Amino acid sequence: MVGWIIYKAQDSEVKPEAYEINRLVEEAKAQDIELRVLKPEQIDLIVTKEDRKSILLDDKPTSLPDFVLPRMGAGTTYFALAVIRQLERLGVPSFNDSDGIDTVKDKLYTHQILAQSNLPVPKTMLVKFPVDISLIEKHIGFPAVIKTLSGSQGKGVFLVKDKQSCKDLFQLLEITNSQISIIIQEFIATSYGRDLRVFTVGGRVVACMERKSNSDDFKANYSLGGIVNSYPISPEIEWLAVEVTRLLGLDIAGVDLLFDHDHFKICEVNSSPGFEGIESCCSVNIPKEMYTYLKLRLGDREQMTDNR
Ligand SMILES: Nc1ncnc2c1ncn2[C@@H]1O[C@H](COP(=O)(O)OP(=O)(O)O)[C@@H](O)[C@H]1O
Ligand SMILES: [Mg+2]
Repeated sequence: MVGWIIYKAQDSEVKPEAYEINRLVEEAKAQDIELRVLKPEQIDLIVTKEDRKSILLDDKPTSLPDFVLPRMGAGTTYFALAVIRQLERLGVPSFNDSDGIDTVKDKLYTHQILAQSNLPVPKTMLVKFPVDISLIEKHIGFPAVIKTLSGSQGKGVFLVKDKQSCKDLFQLLEITNSQISIIIQEFIATSYGRDLRVFTVGGRVVACMERKSNSDDFKANYSLGGIVNSYPISPEIEWLAVEVTRLLGLDIAGVDLLFDHDHFKICEVNSSPGFEGIESCCSVNIPKEMYTYLKLRLGDREQMTDNR
């Protein structure tokens, strides 16, 4: 079985600290999967009716893999998405598929889909310039969370404490980049510096961890130094995570849940979630879970690892 990972670097450029890619490569060897790590720039697309020659790899026609595993998440460029779409058109299944990746790149669109099905999400508004602060005060209130529409690792996420600091931030944004797409969101205070990351594969929760910020930061991201612990999977957690991935059409997902008193609100969903944190605190082999599911989906049950 041959698989391609679509990543921001190719095989020879993968850094030792790229935990997830290295783990995926290592586990592929153990599972007899021939895995190549490619960056979208190595591929050229020719849209023709003659199927098999319509993708060039390093300028040459190439045989197609059995599956693609995109690992660019919120950083998926239009070009990378076009490559994935082309492979899908040629019959190569992608986990996740291009639609799922494209949907969750947009945090507002994600919430629109989830809210339509009555799932609990923080109240969210798309910001438009010039900003009407009173409208935000009325519908969202302060403190509030401001986020770039697309982003990861906590980089584009801010907490504005009051109306004045919100006004100041928007003024700065307006003069520097009023084209930027941002959302403003209800702040879930009971989740300050703390949240859950639920990892799902093929509609199953395979691990759940609690993340706690190691400073007074309200963001709990592992990549910002958050402390992680395994967390018991309650029926509510399982139902929410599974339903979210079903609605968004994701085979593999990292679902972030905020603590909302005794319940949860869905914070965001990641289509190529990191798993260094979760493997460090939960006894789970994420790449193995992924490949076992992929083999099932590809009809290769004989080679499935017995995960019972
Ligand atoms: N509405 C919110 N209320 C409280 N905390 C939040 C809220 N939104 C985000 N956070 C905190 O900020 C972190 C980063 O936000 P998130 O939307 O997941 O961005 P990223 O894609 O960068 O991870 C979350 O893990 C959570 O700890
Ligand atoms: Mg997040």
